[in-house]
Amino acid sequence: GSGSSTTSVVGLALLPVFAAGAWLGTVRLIPAMAPLLERAGIAGVDLNKPGSTKKIPEAVGVVCGLVYLVTLFLYIPFHFDSFLLNSDKRDDFPHEKFVEFVCALLSICCMIFLGFADDVLNLAWRHKLWLPTVASLPLLMVYYVNVGSTWVLVPPFMREWVGGETINLGYLFYVYMSMLAVFCTNAINIMAGINGVEAGQSLIIAASLVILNIVLSFMGQSDHHLISLCLLLPFCGVTAGLLRFNWFPSSVFVGDTFCYFAGMTFAVAAILGHFSRTLLLFLAPQTFNFVLSVPQLFKIVPCPRHRMPRVNARTGLLEPSVVEVPLKSTSSLGLWCIAVARMVGLVRVVESTDERLVVTNFTVINTVLTIAGPMHERNLVMCILFIQVVCSVVALALRFGVLFV
Ligand code: UD1
Ligand code: MG
Repeated sequence: GSGSSTTSVVGLALLPVFAAGAWLGTVRLIPAMAPLLERAGIAGVDLNKPGSTKKIPEAVGVVCGLVYLVTLFLYIPFHFDSFLLNSDKRDDFPHEKFVEFVCALLSICCMIFLGFADDVLNLAWRHKLWLPTVASLPLLMVYYVNVGSTWVLVPPFMREWVGGETINLGYLFYVYMSMLAVFCTNAINIMAGINGVEAGQSLIIAASLVILNIVLSFMGQSDHHLISLCLLLPFCGVTAGLLRFNWFPSSVFVGDTFCYFAGMTFAVAAILGHFSRTLLLFLAPQTFNFVLSVPQLFKIVPCPRHRMPRVNARTGLLEPSVVEVPLKSTSSLGLWCIAVARMVGLVRVVESTDERLVVTNFTVINTVLTIAGPMHERNLVMCILFIQVVCSVVALALRFGVLFV
């Protein structure tokens, strides 16, 4: 039943221990594996360290993924220990919960594999988009078999218009779930490029979701929130371990492997925890960044290979990176996007001639620099993470405020 819990108290008490173990494993394994990645040629130059040409190991997220999967494989028996140890309860073993757990890990494992393939092979943007769709299939399957309900709650302001409190989305619900996976993975991957920002934002989001799950599980429906918690707490452990090496000045890069791994973990935890819409509240900065990026992602405005801010070698501070927009080959829609973004203060036009415009790139990280002025890389990442903390606090307040008031 949805009210009773399958996890024993012992199993639950061991979860933080496993998360701490995951942290320790990551902290130990990264220094050992990073040289191997570098020797295999999976390394990149830190573009914001003036004069440096040293290659830094990339795709270190694969170490996190490895430690994460091993931790959860070892944890599974403890999650179900009350059924395994007690011969009377063996017949009641919750197979459907077990399959849910294993399929969640299969989806995440699939995403780590595809992310690593992307880091090694440097796939094109149009291919990247499909990877999370494929990886979400095991999860959709288990959802279909176990839950099957495609009814969703309608937000209060839309109820009159829809004509009810719930609406059946049918197969569209499955489309929505794979789109959530595509969104989460890519949204984190494009809010990237300065030391510590990918791992930092992921750690804050995961920690906020842990709080959400703990509070919600005290309010009933503990099963949903427990599986979500089991997926998120070890994730916090490996991410905290990674951040130690990825923080300014980075000695390793997280790679697309980590960004996809993080996004997929959030999507899976939210779908199985039944809070996929609440998740989007926590991803407000990423959502804003994604929307702001749309003109460049769809090539309405030219998009350079890298959009992260650039260091000014003289001052040592980061400044917004720019893109050259040739007036002849840019559509009027593209020019309109630039005009609107400029008017609202999201981008700045640095140079304007009869032939071309030079505009700052359409990302939140560049916008922060446009508004606040040049900043040191360490301060910029703190600033972005502060925005994430504020959004997480607001999301928690909204979620519980709406419930309690
Ligand atoms: C995405 C972004 C791109 C951004 C890049 C930075 C879009 C459409 N794509 O591309 O604009 O520049 O992420 O990760 O928005 N690097 C650093 N410092 C860091 C982290 C990364 O210099 O702190 C550099 C390194 O050279 C590293 C490279 O970025 O090798 C990794 O970029 P990659 O993850 O391959 O870029 P994308 O995900 O394709
Ligand atoms: Mg990337």
